[in-house]
Amino acid sequence: MADDAPPPVLTLTPLNPAFREDPYAILNGIRERYPVMRDEMAGVFFISRHEDVRGIVTDLTLLRHPSNAEEAAVLTRRGLEERSGPNGEPPRSSILTLDDPDHARIRNPLAQALYRRVAKFKPEVERIVDETLDRIGDARTFDLMAAYALPIPIDVIAAILGVAHDRLDEFRTWSEGIIQVLNPIATEAQKAEMTRCSDALGAYMTDMLAQRRASPQDDLVSDMAALQAAGAEIDDADLIINLSALLVAGNLTTTDLIGNAVRLFMLNPGELAKLKADPSLINAAVEEALRFEPPVDITGRIASKDMEVGGCPVKSRQSMLVSLRAANRDPAAFEDPDRFDITRRKAPHVSFGGGAHICIGAPLARLEAQVALLKLFERFPDMKLADPAAPAEWRQLPFFRGLEQLHVTV
Ligand code: HEM
Repeated sequence: MADDAPPPVLTLTPLNPAFREDPYAILNGIRERYPVMRDEMAGVFFISRHEDVRGIVTDLTLLRHPSNAEEAAVLTRRGLEERSGPNGEPPRSSILTLDDPDHARIRNPLAQALYRRVAKFKPEVERIVDETLDRIGDARTFDLMAAYALPIPIDVIAAILGVAHDRLDEFRTWSEGIIQVLNPIATEAQKAEMTRCSDALGAYMTDMLAQRRASPQDDLVSDMAALQAAGAEIDDADLIINLSALLVAGNLTTTDLIGNAVRLFMLNPGELAKLKADPSLINAAVEEALRFEPPVDITGRIASKDMEVGGCPVKSRQSMLVSLRAANRDPAAFEDPDRFDITRRKAPHVSFGGGAHICIGAPLARLEAQVALLKLFERFPDMKLADPAAPAEWRQLPFFRGLEQLHVTV
Protein backbone atom coordinates (compact mmCIF):
# COMPACT_ATOMS: atom_id res chain seq x y z
CA MET A 1 0.00 0.00 0.00
CA ALA A 2 1.37 3.43 -0.91
CA ASP A 3 2.05 5.64 2.10
CA ASP A 4 -0.75 8.02 1.25
CA ALA A 5 -3.37 5.38 0.34
CA PRO A 6 -6.24 4.97 2.81
CA PRO A 7 -6.01 1.73 4.82
CA PRO A 8 -8.48 -1.15 4.28
CA VAL A 9 -11.27 -1.11 6.85
CA LEU A 10 -10.36 -4.59 8.06
CA THR A 11 -7.02 -3.30 9.33
CA LEU A 12 -9.00 -1.04 11.67
CA THR A 13 -9.77 -3.85 14.08
CA PRO A 14 -7.92 -5.25 17.10
CA LEU A 15 -6.67 -8.13 14.94
CA ASN A 16 -4.11 -5.57 13.74
CA PRO A 17 -1.62 -5.29 16.66
CA ALA A 18 -0.92 -1.60 15.94
CA PHE A 19 -4.64 -0.77 16.04
CA ARG A 20 -5.12 -2.93 19.13
CA GLU A 21 -2.35 -1.07 20.94
CA ASP A 22 -3.41 2.46 19.95
CA PRO A 23 -6.47 2.78 17.73
CA TYR A 24 -6.60 6.53 18.34
CA ALA A 25 -3.29 7.33 16.64
CA ILE A 26 -4.53 5.54 13.50
CA LEU A 27 -8.07 6.93 13.62
CA ASN A 28 -6.84 10.52 14.19
CA GLY A 29 -4.80 10.24 11.00
CA ILE A 30 -7.77 8.88 9.07
CA ARG A 31 -10.14 11.56 10.37
CA GLU A 32 -7.70 14.29 9.35
CA ARG A 33 -6.82 12.91 5.92
CA TYR A 34 -9.82 10.81 4.79
CA PRO A 35 -12.83 11.77 6.92
CA VAL A 36 -15.14 10.07 4.41
CA MET A 37 -12.99 7.16 3.26
CA ARG A 38 -14.04 4.63 0.62
CA ASP A 39 -12.83 1.02 0.87
CA GLU A 40 -13.61 -0.42 -2.58
CA MET A 41 -12.71 -4.01 -1.63
CA ALA A 42 -15.10 -4.06 1.33
CA GLY A 43 -17.62 -1.88 -0.53
CA VAL A 44 -18.13 0.59 2.33
CA PHE A 45 -17.48 4.16 3.34
CA PHE A 46 -15.70 4.65 6.66
CA ILE A 47 -16.76 7.93 8.28
CA SER A 48 -14.93 9.46 11.21
CA ARG A 49 -15.81 13.12 11.91
CA HIS A 50 -18.13 13.65 14.88
CA GLU A 51 -20.47 15.92 12.94
CA ASP A 52 -20.83 13.45 10.07
CA VAL A 53 -21.20 10.41 12.36
CA ARG A 54 -23.84 12.13 14.45
CA GLY A 55 -25.67 13.25 11.31
CA ILE A 56 -25.72 9.71 9.93
CA VAL A 57 -26.85 7.83 13.03
CA THR A 58 -29.68 10.30 13.63
CA ASP A 59 -30.84 10.38 9.98
CA LEU A 60 -34.14 8.49 10.08
CA THR A 61 -34.24 8.07 6.29
CA LEU A 62 -31.23 5.74 6.27
CA LEU A 63 -31.56 1.97 6.30
CA ARG A 64 -30.04 -0.86 8.29
CA HIS A 65 -30.93 -4.24 6.78
CA PRO A 66 -28.00 -5.56 4.67
CA SER A 67 -30.31 -6.68 1.85
CA ASN A 68 -30.82 -2.95 1.06
CA ALA A 69 -27.13 -2.54 0.27
CA GLU A 70 -25.70 -2.70 -3.26
CA GLU A 71 -24.09 -5.99 -4.37
CA ALA A 72 -20.65 -4.36 -4.10
CA ALA A 73 -21.14 -3.88 -0.34
CA VAL A 74 -19.58 -7.26 0.41
CA LEU A 75 -18.70 -6.55 4.03
CA THR A 76 -22.25 -5.42 4.84
CA ARG A 77 -23.89 -8.23 2.84
CA ARG A 78 -21.65 -11.02 4.10
CA GLY A 79 -23.54 -14.07 5.34
CA LEU A 80 -26.80 -12.82 3.84
CA GLU A 81 -27.16 -15.82 1.50
CA GLU A 82 -25.97 -18.49 3.93
CA ARG A 83 -28.40 -17.31 6.58
CA SER A 84 -31.40 -16.94 4.25
CA GLY A 85 -34.50 -19.16 4.48
CA PRO A 86 -35.23 -22.26 2.35
CA ASN A 87 -36.88 -20.17 -0.40
CA GLY A 88 -34.21 -17.50 -0.39
CA GLU A 89 -36.17 -15.20 1.91
CA PRO A 90 -33.96 -12.99 4.12
CA PRO A 91 -33.11 -14.45 7.54
CA ARG A 92 -35.05 -13.23 10.57
CA SER A 93 -33.20 -10.33 12.16
CA SER A 94 -33.21 -8.78 15.56
CA ILE A 95 -34.13 -5.08 15.73
CA LEU A 96 -30.42 -4.28 15.27
CA THR A 97 -30.75 -4.72 11.50
CA LEU A 98 -34.50 -4.27 10.91
CA ASP A 99 -36.03 -1.28 9.15
CA ASP A 100 -39.45 0.30 9.63
CA PRO A 101 -42.22 -0.66 9.84
CA ASP A 102 -40.89 -3.92 11.37
CA HIS A 103 -38.26 -2.14 13.49
CA ALA A 104 -40.80 0.12 15.22
CA ARG A 105 -43.39 -2.70 15.47
CA ILE A 106 -40.99 -4.78 17.56
CA ARG A 107 -38.76 -2.16 19.21
CA ASN A 108 -41.52 0.03 20.65
CA PRO A 109 -43.22 -2.57 22.87
CA LEU A 110 -39.87 -4.18 23.73
CA ALA A 111 -38.35 -0.84 24.76
CA GLN A 112 -41.41 0.06 26.80
CA ALA A 113 -41.29 -3.22 28.72
CA LEU A 114 -37.50 -3.09 29.18
CA TYR A 115 -37.43 0.53 30.37
CA ARG A 116 -40.22 -0.18 32.89
CA ARG A 117 -38.10 -2.97 34.39
CA VAL A 118 -34.83 -0.99 34.32
CA ALA A 119 -36.49 1.98 36.07
CA LYS A 120 -37.14 -0.14 39.17
CA PHE A 121 -34.07 -2.37 38.98
CA LYS A 122 -31.47 -0.31 40.87
CA PRO A 123 -31.89 -2.19 44.19
CA GLU A 124 -31.46 -5.49 42.36
CA VAL A 125 -28.31 -4.24 40.57
CA GLU A 126 -26.96 -3.11 43.97
CA ARG A 127 -27.65 -6.55 45.42
CA ILE A 128 -25.91 -8.30 42.52
CA VAL A 129 -22.89 -5.98 42.77
CA ASP A 130 -22.64 -6.46 46.57
CA GLU A 131 -22.76 -10.24 46.18
CA THR A 132 -20.09 -10.13 43.50
CA LEU A 133 -17.86 -8.06 45.80
CA ASP A 134 -18.50 -10.50 48.66
CA ARG A 135 -17.36 -13.39 46.45
CA ILE A 136 -14.00 -11.64 45.90
CA GLY A 137 -13.61 -11.94 49.67
CA ASP A 138 -10.12 -11.43 51.06
CA ALA A 139 -8.21 -11.82 47.79
CA ARG A 140 -5.50 -9.15 47.65
CA THR A 141 -4.69 -9.55 43.96
CA PHE A 142 -7.23 -10.69 41.40
CA ASP A 143 -8.33 -10.40 37.78
CA LEU A 144 -11.01 -7.73 37.84
CA MET A 145 -12.48 -8.92 34.52
CA ALA A 146 -13.11 -12.51 35.66
CA ALA A 147 -14.10 -11.63 39.22
CA TYR A 148 -16.22 -8.51 38.62
CA ALA A 149 -16.71 -7.06 35.13
CA LEU A 150 -17.80 -10.35 33.59
CA PRO A 151 -20.28 -11.74 36.14
CA ILE A 152 -22.23 -8.53 36.90
CA PRO A 153 -23.76 -7.82 33.46
CA ILE A 154 -24.70 -11.44 32.75
CA ASP A 155 -26.27 -11.75 36.19
CA VAL A 156 -28.21 -8.49 35.72
CA ILE A 157 -29.58 -9.18 32.22
CA ALA A 158 -30.46 -12.75 33.21
CA ALA A 159 -32.38 -11.42 36.23
CA ILE A 160 -34.26 -8.91 34.04
CA LEU A 161 -35.21 -11.56 31.51
CA GLY A 162 -35.92 -14.11 34.23
CA VAL A 163 -33.56 -16.81 32.95
CA ALA A 164 -32.28 -19.46 35.32
CA HIS A 165 -29.48 -18.38 37.63
CA ASP A 166 -27.76 -21.77 37.48
CA ARG A 167 -27.28 -21.45 33.71
CA LEU A 168 -25.24 -18.21 33.76
CA ASP A 169 -21.97 -19.85 32.63
CA GLU A 170 -23.77 -21.32 29.63
CA PHE A 171 -25.30 -17.94 28.77
CA ARG A 172 -21.87 -16.39 28.80
CA THR A 173 -20.54 -19.12 26.48
CA TRP A 174 -23.54 -18.73 24.16
CA SER A 175 -23.08 -14.94 24.07
CA GLU A 176 -19.37 -15.28 23.19
CA GLY A 177 -20.33 -17.72 20.42
CA ILE A 178 -23.20 -15.67 18.98
CA ILE A 179 -21.32 -12.34 18.96
CA GLN A 180 -19.16 -13.82 16.20
CA VAL A 181 -22.07 -12.99 13.87
CA LEU A 182 -20.62 -9.47 13.91
CA ASN A 183 -17.09 -10.70 13.11
CA PRO A 184 -16.53 -10.22 9.37
CA ILE A 185 -13.61 -12.63 9.32
CA ALA A 186 -14.90 -15.39 11.58
CA THR A 187 -13.20 -18.75 10.94
CA GLU A 188 -15.21 -21.87 9.98
CA ALA A 189 -14.80 -23.11 13.56
CA GLN A 190 -16.10 -19.80 14.96
CA LYS A 191 -19.06 -19.93 12.55
CA ALA A 192 -19.88 -23.50 13.62
CA GLU A 193 -19.72 -22.48 17.28
CA MET A 194 -21.93 -19.49 16.48
CA THR A 195 -24.61 -21.78 14.99
CA ARG A 196 -24.37 -24.19 17.94
CA CYS A 197 -24.73 -21.38 20.48
CA SER A 198 -27.49 -19.63 18.61
CA ASP A 199 -29.50 -22.90 18.32
CA ALA A 200 -28.96 -23.65 22.01
CA LEU A 201 -30.07 -20.19 23.14
CA GLY A 202 -33.02 -20.24 20.71
CA ALA A 203 -34.17 -23.60 22.11
CA TYR A 204 -33.80 -22.31 25.68
CA MET A 205 -35.83 -19.16 24.92
CA THR A 206 -38.55 -21.16 23.09
CA ASP A 207 -38.95 -23.34 26.14
CA MET A 208 -38.96 -20.43 28.51
CA LEU A 209 -41.57 -18.54 26.50
CA ALA A 210 -43.91 -21.55 26.64
CA GLN A 211 -43.36 -21.87 30.41
CA ARG A 212 -44.03 -18.18 31.06
CA ARG A 213 -47.14 -18.27 28.92
CA ALA A 214 -48.46 -21.10 31.08
CA SER A 215 -47.26 -19.59 34.33
CA PRO A 216 -46.24 -15.90 34.21
CA GLN A 217 -43.49 -14.64 36.54
CA ASP A 218 -42.17 -11.20 37.43
CA ASP A 219 -39.79 -10.91 34.43
CA LEU A 220 -39.36 -9.45 30.94
CA VAL A 221 -40.13 -12.69 29.10
CA SER A 222 -43.51 -12.83 30.89
CA ASP A 223 -44.07 -9.11 30.09
CA MET A 224 -43.51 -9.78 26.39
CA ALA A 225 -45.73 -12.88 26.39
CA ALA A 226 -48.47 -10.77 28.00
CA LEU A 227 -48.06 -7.96 25.44
CA GLN A 228 -48.29 -10.52 22.66
CA ALA A 229 -51.47 -11.98 24.17
CA ALA A 230 -52.90 -8.45 24.42
CA GLY A 231 -52.48 -7.98 20.67
CA ALA A 232 -48.92 -6.68 20.10
CA GLU A 233 -47.97 -7.76 16.58
CA ILE A 234 -44.91 -9.81 17.49
CA ASP A 235 -44.75 -13.50 16.63
CA ASP A 236 -42.80 -16.12 18.59
CA ALA A 237 -39.83 -16.08 16.21
CA ASP A 238 -39.54 -12.28 16.65
CA LEU A 239 -39.72 -12.59 20.41
CA ILE A 240 -37.13 -15.34 20.62
CA ILE A 241 -34.58 -13.61 18.39
CA ASN A 242 -35.00 -10.26 20.14
CA LEU A 243 -34.96 -11.58 23.71
CA SER A 244 -31.84 -13.58 22.78
CA ALA A 245 -30.31 -10.39 21.32
CA LEU A 246 -30.85 -8.61 24.65
CA LEU A 247 -29.05 -11.39 26.46
CA VAL A 248 -26.07 -11.31 24.10
CA ALA A 249 -25.80 -7.53 23.59
CA GLY A 250 -26.56 -6.97 27.26
CA ASN A 251 -23.49 -8.55 28.69
CA LEU A 252 -20.34 -8.39 26.55
CA THR A 253 -20.46 -4.64 25.97
CA THR A 254 -21.24 -3.74 29.56
CA THR A 255 -18.41 -5.99 30.78
CA ASP A 256 -16.08 -4.02 28.51
CA LEU A 257 -17.43 -0.68 29.77
CA ILE A 258 -16.78 -1.63 33.42
CA GLY A 259 -13.30 -3.01 32.64
CA ASN A 260 -12.30 -0.05 30.47
CA ALA A 261 -13.58 2.43 33.06
CA VAL A 262 -11.71 0.79 35.97
CA ARG A 263 -8.48 0.78 33.93
CA LEU A 264 -8.94 4.48 33.10
CA PHE A 265 -9.36 5.34 36.78
CA MET A 266 -6.28 3.29 37.68
CA LEU A 267 -4.28 5.21 35.06
CA ASN A 268 -5.72 8.57 36.13
CA PRO A 269 -5.59 8.68 39.96
CA GLY A 270 -6.43 12.39 39.95
CA GLU A 271 -9.80 11.63 38.32
CA LEU A 272 -10.41 8.80 40.79
CA ALA A 273 -9.70 11.22 43.66
CA LYS A 274 -12.28 13.65 42.23
CA LEU A 275 -14.89 10.88 42.04
CA LYS A 276 -14.18 9.71 45.59
CA ALA A 277 -14.43 13.28 46.88
CA ASP A 278 -17.73 13.81 45.07
CA PRO A 279 -19.61 10.60 44.21
CA SER A 280 -22.33 12.67 42.53
CA LEU A 281 -19.85 12.88 39.62
CA ILE A 282 -20.57 9.23 38.84
CA ASN A 283 -22.95 9.94 35.93
CA ALA A 284 -20.43 12.23 34.26
CA ALA A 285 -17.65 9.72 35.03
CA VAL A 286 -19.43 6.90 33.22
CA GLU A 287 -20.21 9.17 30.25
CA GLU A 288 -16.54 10.16 30.03
CA ALA A 289 -15.44 6.50 30.17
CA LEU A 290 -17.93 5.77 27.38
CA ARG A 291 -16.52 8.63 25.33
CA PHE A 292 -12.89 7.95 26.00
CA GLU A 293 -12.79 4.18 25.54
CA PRO A 294 -16.06 3.06 23.92
CA PRO A 295 -16.74 -0.70 23.97
CA VAL A 296 -18.17 -0.69 20.41
CA ASP A 297 -16.12 0.65 17.47
CA ILE A 298 -18.66 1.18 14.77
CA THR A 299 -22.22 1.01 13.63
CA GLY A 300 -23.63 1.17 10.13
CA ARG A 301 -26.31 2.62 7.87
CA ILE A 302 -27.24 2.25 4.20
CA ALA A 303 -28.11 5.20 1.94
CA SER A 304 -31.77 5.17 0.88
CA LYS A 305 -31.16 7.91 -1.72
CA ASP A 306 -28.26 9.76 -3.32
CA MET A 307 -26.80 12.03 -0.64
CA GLU A 308 -23.70 13.90 0.50
CA VAL A 309 -21.65 13.21 3.59
CA GLY A 310 -19.01 15.78 4.54
CA GLY A 311 -19.03 17.04 0.96
CA CYS A 312 -18.62 13.54 -0.55
CA PRO A 313 -21.28 11.98 -2.78
CA VAL A 314 -22.81 8.74 -1.48
CA LYS A 315 -25.15 6.91 -3.82
CA SER A 316 -28.39 5.21 -2.96
CA ARG A 317 -27.76 1.65 -1.61
CA GLN A 318 -24.13 2.37 -0.72
CA SER A 319 -23.12 1.23 2.73
CA MET A 320 -21.55 3.40 5.45
CA LEU A 321 -19.64 2.38 8.56
CA VAL A 322 -19.38 5.15 11.11
CA SER A 323 -16.49 5.15 13.57
CA LEU A 324 -17.93 5.89 17.01
CA ARG A 325 -14.39 5.68 18.41
CA ALA A 326 -12.97 8.27 15.99
CA ALA A 327 -15.96 10.60 16.45
CA ASN A 328 -15.54 10.52 20.24
CA ARG A 329 -11.98 11.91 19.94
CA ASP A 330 -12.72 14.54 17.31
CA PRO A 331 -11.10 17.84 18.42
CA ALA A 332 -13.85 19.69 16.54
CA ALA A 333 -16.38 18.30 19.05
CA PHE A 334 -14.34 17.90 22.26
CA GLU A 335 -11.79 20.18 23.83
CA ASP A 336 -8.53 18.34 24.46
CA PRO A 337 -10.16 15.06 23.36
CA ASP A 338 -7.31 12.78 24.49
CA ARG A 339 -7.63 13.86 28.13
CA PHE A 340 -9.77 11.65 30.41
CA ASP A 341 -11.68 14.28 32.36
CA ILE A 342 -14.76 13.38 34.39
CA THR A 343 -15.66 17.03 34.96
CA ARG A 344 -15.94 17.74 31.24
CA ARG A 345 -18.95 20.01 30.72
CA LYS A 346 -20.16 18.73 27.38
CA ALA A 347 -19.73 15.12 26.32
CA PRO A 348 -22.07 14.38 23.42
CA HIS A 349 -20.37 11.04 22.73
CA VAL A 350 -21.85 8.63 20.19
CA SER A 351 -20.93 5.37 21.96
CA PHE A 352 -24.56 4.18 21.92
CA GLY A 353 -25.16 5.23 18.28
CA GLY A 354 -28.25 7.36 17.80
CA GLY A 355 -31.63 7.94 16.16
CA ALA A 356 -34.14 5.12 15.81
CA HIS A 357 -31.50 2.44 16.48
CA ILE A 358 -29.89 4.06 19.52
CA CYS A 359 -28.84 1.32 21.93
CA ILE A 360 -31.96 0.04 23.66
CA GLY A 361 -29.81 -1.12 26.58
CA ALA A 362 -28.15 2.26 27.26
CA PRO A 363 -30.13 3.04 30.46
CA LEU A 364 -29.31 -0.40 31.84
CA ALA A 365 -25.62 -0.26 30.89
CA ARG A 366 -25.32 3.17 32.52
CA LEU A 367 -27.03 2.00 35.71
CA GLU A 368 -24.80 -1.10 35.97
CA ALA A 369 -21.59 0.82 35.36
CA GLN A 370 -22.52 3.57 37.84
CA VAL A 371 -23.33 1.12 40.63
CA ALA A 372 -20.39 -1.18 39.84
CA LEU A 373 -17.78 1.62 39.86
CA LEU A 374 -18.99 3.40 42.99
CA LYS A 375 -19.27 0.21 45.03
CA LEU A 376 -15.91 -1.12 43.79
CA PHE A 377 -13.99 1.99 44.83
CA GLU A 378 -15.89 2.13 48.12
CA ARG A 379 -15.00 -1.48 48.96
CA PHE A 380 -11.39 -1.22 47.72
CA PRO A 381 -10.30 2.42 48.24
CA ASP A 382 -6.61 1.59 47.67
CA MET A 383 -7.03 -0.43 44.49
CA LYS A 384 -4.07 -0.25 42.06
CA LEU A 385 -2.99 -2.01 38.89
CA ALA A 386 -1.06 -5.13 39.97
CA ASP A 387 1.66 -4.36 37.43
CA PRO A 388 1.46 -0.78 36.18
CA ALA A 389 4.18 -1.45 33.61
CA ALA A 390 2.34 -4.41 32.02
CA PRO A 391 0.77 -3.60 28.64
CA ALA A 392 -3.05 -3.77 28.49
CA GLU A 393 -4.35 -7.12 27.23
CA TRP A 394 -7.06 -6.17 24.73
CA ARG A 395 -9.45 -8.77 23.29
CA GLN A 396 -9.19 -9.40 19.55
CA LEU A 397 -12.87 -9.44 18.52
CA PRO A 398 -13.24 -7.08 15.54
CA PHE A 399 -15.17 -3.87 16.23
CA PHE A 400 -15.16 -4.23 20.03
CA ARG A 401 -12.65 -2.95 22.58
CA GLY A 402 -12.43 -4.62 25.93
CA LEU A 403 -9.85 -6.19 28.18
CA GLU A 404 -9.00 -9.87 28.33
CA GLN A 405 -7.71 -9.49 31.89
CA LEU A 406 -7.11 -6.66 34.35
CA HIS A 407 -5.04 -7.66 37.37
CA VAL A 408 -5.46 -5.38 40.36
CA THR A 409 -4.12 -5.26 43.92
CA VAL A 410 -6.37 -4.00 46.72
C1 HEM B 1 -21.84 -0.10 27.41
C2 HEM B 1 -22.66 -0.98 26.92
C3 HEM B 1 -23.23 -0.91 25.54
C4 HEM B 1 -22.75 -0.28 24.41
C5 HEM B 1 -21.48 0.54 24.26
C6 HEM B 1 -23.71 -0.52 23.35
C7 HEM B 1 -23.60 -0.02 22.07
C8 HEM B 1 -24.56 -0.14 21.08
C9 HEM B 1 -24.48 0.46 19.77
C10 HEM B 1 -23.34 1.31 19.25
C11 HEM B 1 -25.61 0.11 19.10
C12 HEM B 1 -25.97 0.52 17.66
C13 HEM B 1 -26.75 1.82 17.69
C14 HEM B 1 -26.95 2.46 16.34
O1 HEM B 1 -26.74 1.82 15.30
O2 HEM B 1 -27.32 3.66 16.29
C15 HEM B 1 -26.41 -0.71 19.99
C16 HEM B 1 -27.62 -1.27 19.66
C17 HEM B 1 -28.28 -2.16 20.46
N1 HEM B 1 -27.95 -2.52 21.76
FE1 HEM B 1 -26.41 -1.83 22.85
N2 HEM B 1 -24.72 -1.29 23.85
C18 HEM B 1 -24.48 -1.54 25.19
C19 HEM B 1 -25.28 -2.23 26.07
C20 HEM B 1 -26.45 -2.88 25.72
C21 HEM B 1 -27.30 -3.58 26.64
C22 HEM B 1 -27.10 -3.65 28.16
C23 HEM B 1 -28.31 -4.13 25.89
C24 HEM B 1 -29.49 -4.97 26.31
C25 HEM B 1 -30.10 -4.88 27.46
C26 HEM B 1 -28.10 -3.73 24.50
C27 HEM B 1 -28.92 -4.07 23.43
C28 HEM B 1 -28.85 -3.47 22.18
C29 HEM B 1 -29.82 -3.74 21.11
C30 HEM B 1 -30.98 -4.73 21.17
C31 HEM B 1 -29.46 -2.89 20.05
C32 HEM B 1 -30.18 -2.74 18.71
C33 HEM B 1 -31.13 -1.54 18.81
C34 HEM B 1 -31.80 -1.15 17.50
O3 HEM B 1 -31.17 -1.32 16.44
O4 HEM B 1 -32.95 -0.68 17.55
N3 HEM B 1 -26.96 -2.96 24.44
N4 HEM B 1 -25.75 -0.83 21.20
